[in-house]
Amino acid sequence: MVLQPGSKAFLGLSKALLWPLCLAPLLFMLLGVFQVAGYGLGANPIEELLHRCGEWGLKFLLITLAITPLRRITGWSWLVRYRRLLGLFAFFYVMLHFVVYIWLDRQLDLGSIVEDIVKRPYITIGMVAIVMLIPLAVTSTRGMMRRLGRRWQKLHRLVYVIAILGVWHFWWQVKADFLEPSIYAGILALLLGVRLWYRKRPAKQLR
Ligand code: HEM
Repeated sequence: MVLQPGSKAFLGLSKALLWPLCLAPLLFMLLGVFQVAGYGLGANPIEELLHRCGEWGLKFLLITLAITPLRRITGWSWLVRYRRLLGLFAFFYVMLHFVVYIWLDRQLDLGSIVEDIVKRPYITIGMVAIVMLIPLAVTSTRGMMRRLGRRWQKLHRLVYVIAILGVWHFWWQVKADFLEPSIYAGILALLLGVRLWYRKRPAKQLR
């Protein structure tokens, strides 16, 4: 039997593979936390966890954003079927990043959390990004998509703003080596550029 991309069987199988792939960063973090199989989190485990969750949140955001340009370029309309799952994993890792920050890093000290949000601009924009992500996650179901109609698309365009804020947040807290945030910024600029390019051209029929 040949698995046709976009067919039900292909979708089921690919999603069954995608789930463990998306959960792999979490698994490696847990192996590090419990120091299993030679894994660890280094001298500053909380900072390491915070950074890994933040980076995976940003990676998943960019992967989710890449779906539409990829569909446009290749004509593979079935790619859209993976967008929700990838977007929800972005939300998951960003929320984990937030939980590590408020719980392990700040020890649930509300005063110091509020002080950080107010006094450290990179935390302020991270917070704005996370607040914007919540309505996107809540409205990611098919039911909400139907109910909101065209407004759903408008709302979900916020993901571009969130990704910009995410990269900015990363950039702002780097002290010396800007290589990594520059790579994220470059990828985001490319994805936004492709989107703008296609916006100016008439929509092609997708396969
Ligand atoms: C969409 C939302 C967010 C994204 C995509 C994001 C992403 C990131 C990334 C990529 C890093 C750098 C990781 C590294 O250095 O390897 C980072 C660091 C950090 N983020 Fe976020 N973040 C978000 C929201 C937040 C929020 C809401 C908070 C806290 C309220 C926060 C607190 C921090 C802190 C404390 C660091 C470490 C800074 C340091 O080591 O000096 N982030 N984040």
